[in-house]
Amino acid sequence: MSREELQPGTRALHAGLAPVADGNPFLAGPTFAAPFHLSGEGDPSGYARYEHPTSQAYEAALAVLEGGPALAFASGMAATSAVLLSLLTPGDTVVVPSDAYPGVRDIAEKFLGPRGIEVRLVPTDDRAIRAALPGASLVWVESPSNPALDVLDLTALAAEVHAAGARLVVDNTLATPYLQRPLEQGADLVMASGTKALTGHSDVIIGHVAGRDAETLAPIREWRGLHGAIAGPMETWLAHRSLATLGVRVERQQANAQALRDLLAERIDLVHDVRWPRLGGVLGFTLPSAAHAERFLAACGLVVNATSFGGVHASAERRGRWGTDDVAPGWIRFSCGIEDTVDLVADVARALDACG
Ligand SMILES: Cc1ncc(COP(=O)(O)O)c(C=O)c1O
Repeated sequence: MSREELQPGTRALHAGLAPVADGNPFLAGPTFAAPFHLSGEGDPSGYARYEHPTSQAYEAALAVLEGGPALAFASGMAATSAVLLSLLTPGDTVVVPSDAYPGVRDIAEKFLGPRGIEVRLVPTDDRAIRAALPGASLVWVESPSNPALDVLDLTALAAEVHAAGARLVVDNTLATPYLQRPLEQGADLVMASGTKALTGHSDVIIGHVAGRDAETLAPIREWRGLHGAIAGPMETWLAHRSLATLGVRVERQQANAQALRDLLAERIDLVHDVRWPRLGGVLGFTLPSAAHAERFLAACGLVVNATSFGGVHASAERRGRWGTDDVAPGWIRFSCGIEDTVDLVADVARALDACG
């Protein structure tokens, strides 16, 4: 059976592991080294700022999951910067979401605009993006978007972006390649913060970029080496180890999200605008005010009040506290963990009663 025929959970379990041979560990430990013995001509394999074996094993796993070659980065934002800053030059035009993770918007406005790149800020909406395409060379989207959880038709969008002569980059952080493979849908590049559901234990900051082929990735690889944005051996090893449970984690998080969505839908006395795009364990809802949201978070016993999402422990936050997103004051971004569903639902039901 070829690896490509496997279901995504099995694929994640085996991805990037060493070949089967007596004495081989399933997953080799991290290799802590800066330079490597190198005779003859210079080669990136001689210095860990360019590449190192632990990162290469993780990247081999990512390539299997994403369906194209991948590069690991020190964070999702390092990956984002590498794409934007290596591919765009003065005179180019980039389309960037006005309502998605604010980091990409900040890089575009603070670092691309002043360098002569036209930045078009556009909401996560198929029609709005289509209208912004003429003259653009790069289109960055996030689907589902964070924090509003809007979803795009990536296949249709990729065709339109290419017809306009541009390239499509998809931030796939929320869904992970377990649930959505943008390269298969026509995207040129996919970026993700592995800090979230991909690694899922809230213990590592990491990111990656995957592309349709090595040529598409080449300038991004060069940027990573020169700017020193590679992820280290400990992070890449932890991330790779975490991939083995990707399938079971995401399945449980989704089951919990569905059960919570059902609970929230019944509480129309208190809860509005319940959103769950069915692409992961993150959902959102609005309580009547910021004070209700704070009381709700304080009353939860199993839900950590923390930013980020996708971890094995349920977490939530009143997103408006950052002042970076256009959300209602009582908007809660809720990330389901892998708790037994009955416990999580009971905890949230109690907290809703307490905050009303
Ligand atoms: C959708 C999305 N993209 C990118 C990032 C940036 O990732 P990192 O924090 O790993 O740099 C985040 C972080 O919250 C995110 O939510």
